[in-house]
Amino acid sequence: MSRVLQSIGHNIYFGDNAFVELDELLRTTRYTGCRKFIMVDENTIKHCLPVLLAATEELADAEIIETESGEKNKSLDVCFQLWSAMSELQADRKSLLLNLGGGVICDMGGFVAATFKRGIDFINIPTSLLAQVDAAIGGKTGVDLNNIKNQVGLFAFPEEVFVAPKFLETLPPSQLKSGFAEVVKHGLIADRQYWNSIREIKKVRNDITDDIIFQSLKIKNNIVVEDPEEANWRKVLNFGHTIGHAFESYSLEHDRKPISHGEAVAAGMICEAFLSHRKLGLGRNDLHEIVSFILRVFDSYPVKKETFTDFISLMRNDKKNVKGEIRFTLLSRIGSAEVDKPCSEEEILAALAFYRLNTFQ
Ligand SMILES: NC(=O)c1ccc[n+]([C@@H]2O[C@H](COP(=O)([O-])OP(=O)(O)OC[C@H]3O[C@@H](n4cnc5c(N)ncnc54)[C@H](O)[C@@H]3O)[C@@H](O)[C@H]2O)c1
Ligand SMILES: [Zn+2]
Repeated sequence: MSRVLQSIGHNIYFGDNAFVELDELLRTTRYTGCRKFIMVDENTIKHCLPVLLAATEELADAEIIETESGEKNKSLDVCFQLWSAMSELQADRKSLLLNLGGGVICDMGGFVAATFKRGIDFINIPTSLLAQVDAAIGGKTGVDLNNIKNQVGLFAFPEEVFVAPKFLETLPPSQLKSGFAEVVKHGLIADRQYWNSIREIKKVRNDITDDIIFQSLKIKNNIVVEDPEEANWRKVLNFGHTIGHAFESYSLEHDRKPISHGEAVAAGMICEAFLSHRKLGLGRNDLHEIVSFILRVFDSYPVKKETFTDFISLMRNDKKNVKGEIRFTLLSRIGSAEVDKPCSEEEILAALAFYRLNTFQ
């Protein structure tokens, strides 16, 4: 049997044998005779679909809809193609869409399902670490518009989520590491003991266990269950992301090979741990522990002093700012966070200088 978590109106089944439960669900009268569609990209069709089909009888006659992978394809153009494909294949209101892929497939598939014929059922089967511990959970669906991330979308919850860690065996190492940043974040914002077990990890590929993944998605789930539509507390998940997004956007604009979301968040967490020390009294030892672990696992990003102001401008443009203030989720200690903490430009500059100093630049 798999481990089961209750989420918002649905369950999350966790374990490599979770597809037994999926097959059982598809055998219930609710899905008898219903058309099934599985959305994949060129990687998950190759690595994940055979695993899913071998583990389920009820998906043998499912239609496969393939899209091209990559953030640039998380777009309305691709949604148009997906809606059209489903129309042509005569999907009806009782049809079911199964999203088999990383965060892009889960976000876009959820959006396509939630809008097709005013909404059909969908199931998330996340196959990247980032999607398993983050994107597949919490009901945020949508696509990017003119380079603005997640500009169009809606909250829509899946019927169920099935998380099988074995999919991660074929995930490229850089993608695994990118998702690992969210695992680190979950430990830091919510659970000191869990953070201690994360700190034992020497090499992500070898040492990340099913338990580590399960606890990570459990932390995310607990937070979204408490505040599904991000009225307030869900913002705790933004730790590392305010400065992290600035690193991500800066790199996207300036580097031939931009850094991943996870690498950017890793840098952001170092800076924001420093702000936590300054503003919320995060202890020196905690700060040191965070910085040394992150720098052991993630590559550092070269940032020049002359570009600090570019980072500040990027943060100023963030749509999450309130009344012109740049607000942060900060740690009072490891395992405990507070939301909506404004920091001044001077403080942010000091955090960037701290990052530079610690990465020996
Ligand atoms: N909805 C949310 O709450 C939420 C939260 C965090 C991130 N996101 C979104 O998630 C997206 C990023 O997700 P991602 O990092 O999973 O990216 P992704 O979906 O692009 O997947 C990364 C790459 O890994 C490949 N891949 C996935 N699973 C694989 C497997 N098992 N074996 C081999 N290759 C595999 C994909 O084809 C892709 O090339 C972003 O668009 C982000 O906005 C959403
Ligand atoms: Zn993130």
